Amino acid sequence: MPVRVALIVGSLRKGSYSRAIGLAMKAIAAPGLEIEPVQIDDLPLYDPDLETDTPPPAWTRFRDEISATEAVLFVTPEYNRSIPGALKNALDVGSRPYGQSVWSGKPAAIVSVSPGALGGFGANHHLRQPLVFLHMPTMQQPEAYIGNVASLLDENGQLKKDDTRQFLNSFTDAFAAWIEKTKG
Ligand code: FNR
Repeated sequence: MPVRVALIVGSLRKGSYSRAIGLAMKAIAAPGLEIEPVQIDDLPLYDPDLETDTPPPAWTRFRDEISATEAVLFVTPEYNRSIPGALKNALDVGSRPYGQSVWSGKPAAIVSVSPGALGGFGANHHLRQPLVFLHMPTMQQPEAYIGNVASLLDENGQLKKDDTRQFLNSFTDAFAAWIEKTKG
């Protein structure tokens, strides 16, 4: 049975480099990993007052989709040396109601992406902080800071270089091993 992995992309824009990298990883991953994108752009901002018997339908859809997966792959840009607000909102929505977090115990991996040289280092490490609290065992090595991303993708968002393909392939292999090691 393949392991179902949620792909959460921190960018909302159509032409997102991060989404292109995430989808490339989905295509490259060994058959043992079934990586499926989970939408976050329709999630109303987290507001505890909306946490009634009928929460926003998008929250319920999101929580159900994450619950149905065994692991989470985050691919995110960096916004102002941290994570985009949309990604933080998704983490918050999934973390509640109190005691019913959909994140708890799910292995995670982080890929940060930037057109700049630093590869989203700040976002990568800021994301690790909430994942500690959310009890998501997060892969430590290999790390993935994808810098100068525009030079790695063609106009259709496809990977241009074999070494990028090999790196992302080895990253997904390591994640598969990490999931196996940490689950249960
Ligand atoms: C950025 N960008 C950016 N890049 C970076 O490397 N470090 C940063 O701190 C920031 N800060 C930042 C803030 C805001 C509000 C925006 C909109 C952008 C640039 C960012 O990396 C670039 O727009 C990427 O293309 C965003 O990723 P996607 O949307 O292509 O996945």
